[in-house]
This record gives sequence, structure tokens and C-alpha cells, in this order.
Amino acid sequence: MKEDLYCIVYVSEQSIPYDMNMLIDLADISAIKNISIGITGFLYYDKGYFFQYLEGDRKYVEQLMSKIKSDPTHRFINLKEVLPSKDGKRRFPHWSMRLIKKEFITSITMENVIMEYMLSFKEAGLEFNEHSNITLDTMLLNISKFQSKYYMY
Ligand SMILES: Cc1cc2nc3c(=O)[nH]c(=O)nc-3n(C[C@H](O)[C@H](O)[C@H](O)COP(=O)(O)O)c2cc1C
Repeated sequence: MKEDLYCIVYVSEQSIPYDMNMLIDLADISAIKNISIGITGFLYYDKGYFFQYLEGDRKYVEQLMSKIKSDPTHRFINLKEVLPSKDGKRRFPHWSMRLIKKEFITSITMENVIMEYMLSFKEAGLEFNEHSNITLDTMLLNISKFQSKYYMY
């Protein structure tokens, strides 16, 4: 069944120091809570900054976002709504909140992102337009490919 998905990404900065155990606990507890409200996505952390992607029913994503925003352990910097993927399916159906490691991101090279970005115009039958906003979409698609390798929440 095709869902009416609402997807967002944001970055925030920690206001207390997070260590690996705290991050694992945060992702584990979040995963359990997110399952109950049908939210999926990932959490990335590097040098005091969080990068999180969330997708699900708009009502639940918005409710969760207001909780996350008022969490005193970090400060919000930027949030962006992302269009659902072209097929309308979830990008991360198997991750209810996966903590992803730096290697996941660094293995996605800029060349790879740009190439897929340009190819996607052809696939969509569009002229290449450098102001288009597919880069983020491509990056999310690339990260989502790791799900078959790391099939767990
Ligand atoms: C970077 C970051 C990401 C978070 N992501 C989630 C999440 O995906 N799901 C969740 O339930 N809580 C998440 N939290 C925790 C919430 O901010 C909040 O503490 C929690 O939802 C409170 O739950 P409660 O009201 O049930 O006690 C996150 C916190 C931080 C700092």
C-alpha cells in the first residue's frame, strides 16, 4: 500500500557530550518507540553534531519532531522537508532508528552522488538543472542501499 509519507532531515549540535554508549542507547530506545508509531530513518553523529532522517505519517513525525526539538541535550540548527522517494515507498523500511557509522557516509563519494544526480535527470526525462534539489535525495538513496547489508533496526 502506498503511504502518504512525510520525510525530514535535520542537523543539530549536542549541548551535552555524547559518548558511544549514550548514542547506542539513544538509537535503541528511539527504535523501540519509533516502531510503535511507524517511523523509520537513521541517526548519524560526528564530532558533536547529529544528522537525522525521519519518515512516516505526518502527524507522528511532527509530534516526534516537537519532542526532539525541545530535547535539552542538543540544539537545533537546520531542518528540511524532503520529498518522498520517486516510487513513494519508504527509503528506510528496515531501520526504525539505525545509528549509522562514519564509514557509511564516507563510502558515498561525491563523484558517486554527482553521477547519480545527473543520471536521475535523464531517467526522469528532464533537462539537467543545477538548481534542482536531487542531491539530498541521491544521498539518501545511497545510504538506504546499506540496509541489505545491515538488515536490522
Ligand atoms: C539527536 C536526537 C535524536 C532523537 N531521535 C529520537 C527518535 O527518533 N525517536 C524518539 O522517540 N526519540 C528520539 N530522541 C529523544 C527525544 O528527544 C525525547 O527525549 C524522547 O522522545 C522523549 O520520549 P518520552 O516523551 O516518551 O519520554 C532523540 C533525541 C536526540 C538528542
